[in-house]
Amino acid sequence: MGNEKKVSFRRDFAILTLSDKGSRGERMDTSGAWLRETLQMAGYKLQDYTILPDQEALIVEKVIELVDTKNIALIITTGGTGLSPTDRTPEAMDKVLEKDIPGIAEAMRAASMLKTNRAMLSRGRAGIRGESLIINLPGSLKAVKENLEVFLDVLPHALEKIQGEEGDCGMPA
Ligand code: MTE
Repeated sequence: MGNEKKVSFRRDFAILTLSDKGSRGERMDTSGAWLRETLQMAGYKLQDYTILPDQEALIVEKVIELVDTKNIALIITTGGTGLSPTDRTPEAMDKVLEKDIPGIAEAMRAASMLKTNRAMLSRGRAGIRGESLIINLPGSLKAVKENLEVFLDVLPHALEKIQGEEGDCGMPA
């Protein structure tokens, strides 16, 4: 009691929904709405919320704006990670991520496989650009809920490390 390490890190975030139908207003973005609300309730501060079609160049341009211009600490994308011809989120990540964090994507897929074997069909990535953490989630609300719970508890430590915190990584007892 009382010896927990104080964590201090920027906790602003952006939600980027990738959906052709969503961007045309033909589908409600329930996943983006749930993510916004849930992360705000967890103490994160919403800075940007955008719905884009599954177009690689638009995704790249938006992520560069969110990181290089707005310096937003956490960017969660939803959608476009699957196998259909239009899914381009991972290809856009190839162009923006400076470091991969394979463990986050691996953990999400491993945990998700316990819920549905279709989890193996998500090609979502996680990684770093500048001092921003970027995590791709699948598009469905069910998948978003099942994936967020995998890494939500680890976010504070991940963000403080990305933002240059130099302490030891030992967990408090
Ligand atoms: N992961 C979890 N936890 N739960 C799910 O229902 N759906 C899968 C997978 N990951 C799913 C999941 C399915 S059916 C697909 S096609 C892929 O995510 C890719 O989804 P996306 O194209 O919407 O990004």
